[in-house]
Amino acid sequence: MDIKIKRGSVSGEKSDAAVFVLFEGERPKGALAEIDGAQGGVISRTIASGEFTGKQGETALFHLVSGTGPERIILAGLGRRGKFSPDSLMRAAGAAAGLARKTGLKEISVDSGPPEGISLNRFASLMAQGMLLALYNFDTFKKAESNKKVKSVALLASDRAAEAALKKGAAEGRIIADSVNFAKDMINAPANEMTPSVMAARAKAAAKDVGLKLKVLEADDCKKLGMGAFLGVAKGSRQPPKFIVMEYRGGKPADRRQGPYVIIGKGITFDSGGISIKPSEGMEKMKYDMAGAGAVIAAIRCAAALKLPVNLVAIAPCTENMPGGAALKPGDMVRAMNGKTIEIISTDAEGRLVLADALCYAARYKPRAVIDIATLTGACVIALGDFAIGLMGNDRKLIDDVREAGEAGNERAWELPMWDEYVDAMKGDVTDLKNVGGRKAATVTAGKFLQEFVDYPWAHLDIAGTAWEEKGRPYCPKGATAVGVRLIVEFLKRKSA
Ligand code: BES
Ligand code: MN
Ligand code: ZN
Repeated sequence: MDIKIKRGSVSGEKSDAAVFVLFEGERPKGALAEIDGAQGGVISRTIASGEFTGKQGETALFHLVSGTGPERIILAGLGRRGKFSPDSLMRAAGAAAGLARKTGLKEISVDSGPPEGISLNRFASLMAQGMLLALYNFDTFKKAESNKKVKSVALLASDRAAEAALKKGAAEGRIIADSVNFAKDMINAPANEMTPSVMAARAKAAAKDVGLKLKVLEADDCKKLGMGAFLGVAKGSRQPPKFIVMEYRGGKPADRRQGPYVIIGKGITFDSGGISIKPSEGMEKMKYDMAGAGAVIAAIRCAAALKLPVNLVAIAPCTENMPGGAALKPGDMVRAMNGKTIEIISTDAEGRLVLADALCYAARYKPRAVIDIATLTGACVIALGDFAIGLMGNDRKLIDDVREAGEAGNERAWELPMWDEYVDAMKGDVTDLKNVGGRKAATVTAGKFLQEFVDYPWAHLDIAGTAWEEKGRPYCPKGATAVGVRLIVEFLKRKSA
């Protein structure tokens, strides 16, 4: 879908439909009031009769009887003015775009009258994101492409300054939404189409697109570095593992005195459980066990495309977790890059093993802060359900910043305790650590396990419950959610403000 910025008014712009957003219980104003008047009050009568109330998510479609501008009007509800947040606007934009697509409309226009408190720049960014995210459709492997596709959306600017602001915002919204959708394409793909090698190729393409340094460590390289935990997981698979490292240097000269931010994503392209094999029911879902890796690759792409003034490194340890003949077995021992030994209790607790070596590797950057993101524990789904990320870490300020960045884009994270006592469950009998600490607080004990490989400010995001959407919600169709991409980008934006 193209996004165009045009000078003029929405009522004079020819389109299949003009989109207006409206608060609950409020009457048409401005351009909408004019159109309403010219159409004999059809819109205000629909509102008066209660057929359109302006509730969040609600939409209405009107055919206009006369005029040379839009053929139709789409109203999208913003909910109560008092409860407004940027997310309300993204939802309304997504709902309007969804209705336009369902109706088979090709060209739509948008009235650029942002709600109070939202700049034109922000308005354009949120509208673009809401629409582009809502219209995402994973059809890579479908023979027949749907012909119901919205081709273009025009944002109308009243003057030169408005035009510049809308352009800037729409460009930002486009970059963010494209990055989220880029992650979704990776995460939704079947595991046999998204092997570690394919992930590395996607990372390479992204690096080339936006100008990033890329390094892919092969198994031999990892062996030399002593990554016994990562390689232990990889041993059970025919697919060669890929340890992907991407570097973006956008920081100001003064930033050279500090290390970069490092983001690490779990990249298990398929988690069968290994020898501790998972039940077959639902196992197909475990193709999304690389959602963390997808998110960090997309986030660094986004940061570079937005030219954020930060230094950033993304690390994605990618491998399958399979029960091949050479696979790790329960009772085996591996040695991580920092020398710590780990007894394998369950080969299904593989995420923490690949992350352990990635966290050790991150130390070489003397990072300012590290955020890891992983579909790590089923227990997180039990504890927090589908719409809260599990948040842990070792640094008060970093944890708060991460949570606030998430809230801004409705990628909400909820903090779990990381008291010292929790690490006891992870202490090994014959090794330094074991990879499973029992059923109690399994999300926290996994976090405590990771902490054993960290010597810098660090936050950990468990996205097991949030990385996949079963039903579809506003501006997030079912399937991969690419949760974390917008959170990380917002976090970095705030750091560069
Ligand atoms: N990838 C899974 C966690 C997961 C579960 C993600 C459900 C998304 C949805 C992870 O590798 C895993 O298998 N964790 C085990 C750990 C256990 C063996 C300690 C779990 O949570 O059951
Ligand atoms: Mn597992
Ligand atoms: Zn896993």
